[in-house]
Amino acid sequence: MTIVVTGASGFIGGELTRMLVERGEQVRILARPSSNLDPLDGLPLDIVRGELDDSPALARAMSAADVVFHCAALAADWGPWSDFERANVSGVKNLLQAAVDAGTVQRFVHVSTSDVYGYPRTAVDESYPLRDVGYNYNRSKIMSERLVDEYLHQFGLPTTIIRPVTVFGPRSFTFTVGLSRLLLDGDLPFLAKGRARAGLIYIDDLIEGMISAASEPAAIGQAYNLRDPSNITWRESLLTLADGLGASTRPRNIPTPVAVLAAFGLETAYSLFRIKTRPLLTRQVVYAMTRDQGYPIEKAEDELGFAPTIGVDEGFRRTIEWLRSAEGQKALTD
Ligand SMILES: NC(=O)c1ccc[n+]([C@@H]2O[C@H](COP(=O)([O-])OP(=O)(O)OC[C@H]3O[C@@H](n4cnc5c(N)ncnc54)[C@H](OP(=O)(O)O)[C@@H]3O)[C@@H](O)[C@H]2O)c1
Repeated sequence: MTIVVTGASGFIGGELTRMLVERGEQVRILARPSSNLDPLDGLPLDIVRGELDDSPALARAMSAADVVFHCAALAADWGPWSDFERANVSGVKNLLQAAVDAGTVQRFVHVSTSDVYGYPRTAVDESYPLRDVGYNYNRSKIMSERLVDEYLHQFGLPTTIIRPVTVFGPRSFTFTVGLSRLLLDGDLPFLAKGRARAGLIYIDDLIEGMISAASEPAAIGQAYNLRDPSNITWRESLLTLADGLGASTRPRNIPTPVAVLAAFGLETAYSLFRIKTRPLLTRQVVYAMTRDQGYPIEKAEDELGFAPTIGVDEGFRRTIEWLRSAEGQKALTD
């Protein structure tokens, strides 16, 4: 069986690739010509290099493919729409078309995000309508889900969508490395006292859910929230990380209205002056850290048998162990 993974140079695609190879699967990855694949050195992979608009490369990647895990995406809270459109909309369409053209794909697992719900005040299940709130990431991921549905209904491509919450673990540059750096520098505040449910999932548990989603016949045409059942808050998560790192300063609190206003002001200024770098705070981050991220997972439990075995406590222990390793220390200082 040939399993194709996109985004293997990233956090989720990389760990998925490692776990599939460990299980003896035949894995082909599609990576951009510029992607750094050093962390996957030594793995027996079939590597196809190409962008998501390179039709011959997409055809090579999909040739005789049985299962596709589409993990490549621009996963960010800031950046020009054209970048999001290229990666998360046109790129998805091209890949779906290549999967249809191959004629062999038994399952196309599309990695979406709980951000497609538009940051509601209370966490919602999969029946909740997707809400475009005008942020590029949220909008582009909704558009990509619509394309996946179109290819399911119009071309009969067997698709499954997964909507993870925040994923953490070793080699996560956004969560593990990014937050750790801020904690060590004393630059990370609690928003709304850190009381909101964080909605986390440890990487290995997510991958188990993704693999189940790829093999379960009932999952065709379905979307699933994937989250650890723990109700851990942002306060508990960040303090666990801070303690593990030996960070000396405790995060101070910023009330939600102040954080929203600050994020809005920064976003406006950055847009007005066309500043390319990411502002220190965005509304997307504020909403994720102040609104309940405890998205229900009963559907995944019932239909996929989803049952995280590592969990957040052990997940944090492993993450902190990695941060203390040579690889983790290098990631923190690079
Ligand atoms: N991490 C989370 O907490 C989380 C939560 C919910 C959903 N997700 C979703 O999970 C998926 C993977 O996220 P991640 O955390 O693994 O992200 P990541 O570490 O940033 O990796 C992103 C991957 O996508 C590739 N990529 C980025 N822009 C691309 C483009 N224009 N064309 C082709 N490839 C491109 C990157 O390749 P390069 O190495 O070449 O840049 C990399 O391999 C995404 O769909 C994301 O929306 C992530």
